[in-house]
Amino acid sequence: MEKEVFSMPRIGDKAPEFKAITTQGEINFPADYSGSWVILFSHPADFTPVCTSEFMTFASMEKQFNAANCKLVGLSVDGLYSHIAWLRTIKEKIEYKGMKDVEVTFPLIEDITMEVASKYGMMMPGESNTKAVRAVFVIDPKGIIRTIIYYPLSLGRNFDELYRVLIALQTADVFSVATPADWRPGDDVIVPTAGSCGVAKERMESKAEDVKCYDWFFCTKKLDKDTVLNKIIKK
Ligand code: BEZ
Repeated sequence: MEKEVFSMPRIGDKAPEFKAITTQGEINFPADYSGSWVILFSHPADFTPVCTSEFMTFASMEKQFNAANCKLVGLSVDGLYSHIAWLRTIKEKIEYKGMKDVEVTFPLIEDITMEVASKYGMMMPGESNTKAVRAVFVIDPKGIIRTIIYYPLSLGRNFDELYRVLIALQTADVFSVATPADWRPGDDVIVPTAGSCGVAKERMESKAEDVKCYDWFFCTKKLDKDTVLNKIIKK
């Protein structure tokens, strides 16, 4: 029988739909997450060290992500009972970098058939035929993929960076701006590039104190941290 070939989803695409069994019951994705941001991420295998460090870190930050209206959903090509046993081991036995008694309460998808992993382009045969790479999909409340990041098997993710990505995406939406290199809340943001000669001239001649133009096409403005966080973070 010929193998079904899936094209990889891209930024701006609707998140591919699937139903799956998870450690928190069945989910219907992305419909169950409508109205929330969601980070769907894969890991290579249960009971492996890099993955364990990642799960402990992500679970410890879950409340921080939830407060920014974002839910977490994990996946690997292991079965449900392996997932359950691994998460119990993490909670009962593993102490790592000051984290202990860590309970993973977000759903972890079982995907032994690799159906979901294949749909989302999480299988990369050059890296492994049997394990998903460390893929991250940031999906918005309308079910649109907004960011995709891939890491190889050997490299644990930086979860502060994933949080920065989430806040930057929301800031861009809420304030109609873009965010420059290494942006963090409180840093200046980029105003949309002038779309006409008139606006370009206006920008360059403007005396507005909160706007700085490096040239007509590259202008930033102040956006203070509290203004950003008050809009995005649920207290
Ligand atoms: C790990 O999580 O430690 C790991 C998993 C698969 C391959 C290499 C490392």
